[in-house]
Amino acid sequence: MFARISGRYDLLNRVLSLGIDQRWRRRMLEQAGEVRGARVVDLCCGTGDVSLCFARAGARVVGVDFTPEMLAHAEAKRARAGAAGLFATGDALALPIADRSAQVCTVAFGIRNVADRGACLREMRRVLAPGGRVVVLECSMPPGRCFGWLYRTYFTRILPLVGRLVSRHEDAYSYLPRTVLAFPEPPALQRELEQQGFVECGFARLTFGVTCLHWGRVPGR
Ligand SMILES: C[S@@+](CC[C@H](N)C(=O)[O-])C[C@H]1O[C@@H](n2cnc3c(N)ncnc32)[C@H](O)[C@@H]1O
Repeated sequence: MFARISGRYDLLNRVLSLGIDQRWRRRMLEQAGEVRGARVVDLCCGTGDVSLCFARAGARVVGVDFTPEMLAHAEAKRARAGAAGLFATGDALALPIADRSAQVCTVAFGIRNVADRGACLREMRRVLAPGGRVVVLECSMPPGRCFGWLYRTYFTRILPLVGRLVSRHEDAYSYLPRTVLAFPEPPALQRELEQQGFVECGFARLTFGVTCLHWGRVPGR
């Protein structure tokens, strides 16, 4: 599915989020703190927007994704921007990265897609050095009654329609609301991070709660 929508993926992100998605990715960078010189592993990096955001801030980034078509766009964008960074094909459930070798591990709009979320969080914990930070960005459903209802209508009816027309993929943008509705609420995802041994975990709902930023730290240092 991601291979087939890769050419239109960035355009759809900008259109469907009304251009706010890049601001959310910059919030990930702020949450990670000082990253100059730090080793950052960006899981499910797709077309590389998070990776490039961190690379521009001076981090040594490795973006990992299992869809080569998405990575080809990431690499083309990296070259155009003259940014540093490396993109590698790999599975978020078995990362091609050494234990305790990264200071920051990120995943944006990816953890919802993996087949085994627990295994993915364990991998993030494994590759992070003591004191390392995890930053997760994911779609969520806004909590308020009135806006919640309005957003649900947009998300389950209008978004799949626009997504289908622009991506020319029958199912990709119906898959999005389906998986978001089945995804844990932010407090439950925070508990999952804590169960994997992350400390100082927290979350912030962004843009009325249509997206949620999660963070945590590996104990030590
Ligand atoms: C919605 S895109 C997110 C891309 C990017 N992080 C962003 O901010 O736009 C989800 C990405 O997760 C990747 N993905 C899903 N499961 C994966 C896995 N187990 N290992 C590696 N990549 C995976 C897909 O190939 C796709 O590129």
